[in-house]
Amino acid sequence: MPLHIVAHPLAQEALALLRDRQTPPERFRRAASRLSVLLAVEATRDLPTCEHTVQSPLGVAVAHRLAVDLVIVPVLRAGLGMLDALLALVPQARVGHIGLQRDEATAIASQYYARLPSGLARSQVLMIDPMLATGGSASAAVGILKAAGARDIRIICIVAAPEGVAAIERAHPDVVVYAPVVDSHLNAQKFIVPGLGDFGDRLYGTV
Ligand code: PRP
Ligand code: URA
Repeated sequence: MPLHIVAHPLAQEALALLRDRQTPPERFRRAASRLSVLLAVEATRDLPTCEHTVQSPLGVAVAHRLAVDLVIVPVLRAGLGMLDALLALVPQARVGHIGLQRDEATAIASQYYARLPSGLARSQVLMIDPMLATGGSASAAVGILKAAGARDIRIICIVAAPEGVAAIERAHPDVVVYAPVVDSHLNAQKFIVPGLGDFGDRLYGTV
């Protein structure tokens, strides 16, 4: 399975807050940030490093630096709710943006924007999109990244549905999904159940 579940208790605590329908946008944003950091730590755990030395006030220390160019790609709009947390963790990362909107009736995603950094073939790409429902948006976004040259792509999301995970496995078996949970199913409107509702609306108070 292209799936890595992050079961960390603090991740589960933040997820509970996000699910709660009473959580207002301000607390929702903070919980999304905390959870994004914990997910990103897992998604970057095995990144290559190179050894060098630094002079501390008391001597020479062996140190390790990230040996890969990291590119973070939020899928607009909801993915923006995870971006600051990832940049706090990896300030040197470059950022690309992909704009996708699900049609409310058909749940089919269409692209309205893409702006990506160059040289993606040499980069580790972390694509951030909180909801993996049908997987249509994530599959399309990965397709856009691959067409731009990206070869090593990981998806970080906050709630996944079995349908979404299966869609990624079918279309992009080389891509690993990092999530704290896989929920039960999609409803008739293709929303995740129990999920947390519309992430973008709850993040920005547009409900
Ligand atoms: C949401 C979410 C994902 C997508 C997931 O975005 O942020 O991008 O739906 O659904 P899927 O797996 O069925 O494609 P939405 O299109 O609602 O746009 P928004 O982020 O602007 O709210
Ligand atoms: N997008 C959301 O924001 N929530 C869902 O449950 C499905 C798609």
